[in-house]
Amino acid sequence: ARDLNARADSKPAALQAILNNIGADGSAVSGASAGVVVASPSKSDPDYFYTWTRDAALTYKVLIDELIAGDTSLEPTIQDYVSAQAKLQAVSNPSGDLSDGSGLAEPKYHVDLTAFTEAWGRPQRDGPALRATALITYGNYLISKERTSVVKSNIWPIVQNDLNYVAQYWNQTGFDLWEEVEGSSFFTIAAQHRALVEGSAFAKALGESCEGCDSQAPQVLCFQQSFWDGKAIVSNFANNGRTGLDANSVLTSIGNFDPKAPCDDVTFQPCSARALSNHKLYVDSFRKIYPVNSGKEAGTAVAVGRYSEDTYMGGNPWYLTTLAAAEQLYDALYQWKQLGSLEITEISLPFFKDLVSSAAAGKYPSSSETYTSITAAVKKYADGFVAVVKEHTPSDGSLAEQYTRDNGSPASAKDLTWSYAALLSAARREAGTVPPTWGASTANKVPSKCEGSSAKGSYTTPSVGKW
Ligand code: NOJ
Ligand code: NOJ
Repeated sequence: ARDLNARADSKPAALQAILNNIGADGSAVSGASAGVVVASPSKSDPDYFYTWTRDAALTYKVLIDELIAGDTSLEPTIQDYVSAQAKLQAVSNPSGDLSDGSGLAEPKYHVDLTAFTEAWGRPQRDGPALRATALITYGNYLISKERTSVVKSNIWPIVQNDLNYVAQYWNQTGFDLWEEVEGSSFFTIAAQHRALVEGSAFAKALGESCEGCDSQAPQVLCFQQSFWDGKAIVSNFANNGRTGLDANSVLTSIGNFDPKAPCDDVTFQPCSARALSNHKLYVDSFRKIYPVNSGKEAGTAVAVGRYSEDTYMGGNPWYLTTLAAAEQLYDALYQWKQLGSLEITEISLPFFKDLVSSAAAGKYPSSSETYTSITAAVKKYADGFVAVVKEHTPSDGSLAEQYTRDNGSPASAKDLTWSYAALLSAARREAGTVPPTWGASTANKVPSKCEGSSAKGSYTTPSVGKW
């Protein structure tokens, strides 16, 4: 069996599984161009032999964080990703083209970097933001190594297009991360806010500017607040008859986790009262509907999926969402440790009461017994989600997209790249390895009045030269 217990001192199997799905050398994806993340080697039922901008950016963000943590062997494939994205930005597609930025939100391409022209849920406006975040993280790493000029020539032009796209189009509707719902999506808006915030600082570090970042970020954050309903996130504004409880929100919390931020509700930090209340309601929404969860009461980890009404490929639990439920809690534990205390509010109390029935609102310093018992319970709960994934992982260690609601056997696309990326990042967080800050704690002032604004940007064809 492959060793999926990722540790900082050995190359984890999840990392190798990711690399197997990346061109040009990935063993499972022959035909894919260099730096192209194939969503899964599966070519039918479902056919995932394409590259999605979202899956690719989230996967490379994990690889870039591995590089920063010391795995320098990953730098060549990261540079291949930069080159591949420079080419993709210039590919005209059914969402549009680069002249007005519209083509940047095309969700997926063929693995040889040509346009996919069939019907699809498009545009998907999270893609440019997530890609900007991945590239900025790599760019900041290079700046820290005093390689600023290569960042300016090879990375900034791509990032600038994506930032200009976000600043111009964030207030327009599009398809959600699950490619199903047309409207406004919490995950997309939050990813856009983060990109604009770190984009502004990145521009300054390069002696450039991003005026659209500065003018639009507060407005995006303002809109982001409207997804909160008092107890949980309503993941999509669309008339779709769903509760709104959706892994969309948990993925947002871990995606915008900032190790330097306090438990801020506004940016939905993992340890915030809002994000914890949401975690409880999201997880509870799967307790009764999946037979694999039968008998597991509130406070015990269970199998969780995208959203309870899901029917796609069986509407089963997903590995990456179950791992996200764990990762949010590992992030929260890290934040409480940094802060030296843990606070329970009326909003987060139901989350904590499930774990420790005597929990009560209050602020508990890390020296207190309450802090010790509550953080131990949260750790146990987090580990429980990882244990659910392990329980339903075949002995060869492979992770598909889903595992069935009836008996937990693998379902849908095999060897989903995003599943392995989720496993690797959850393992890193469990071990206390965290990504760089994105400046969340300096970007949490919500304007008193929200405006649906836009900053028109310009777009230029990027090219990547020597490193
Ligand atoms: C509907 C699914 O729910 C969505 O996630 C998927 O990407 C598309 N169909 C295409 O297969
Ligand atoms: C379906 C998922 O819903 C979507 O988020 C993902 O991008 C594609 N599959 C490819 O993995």
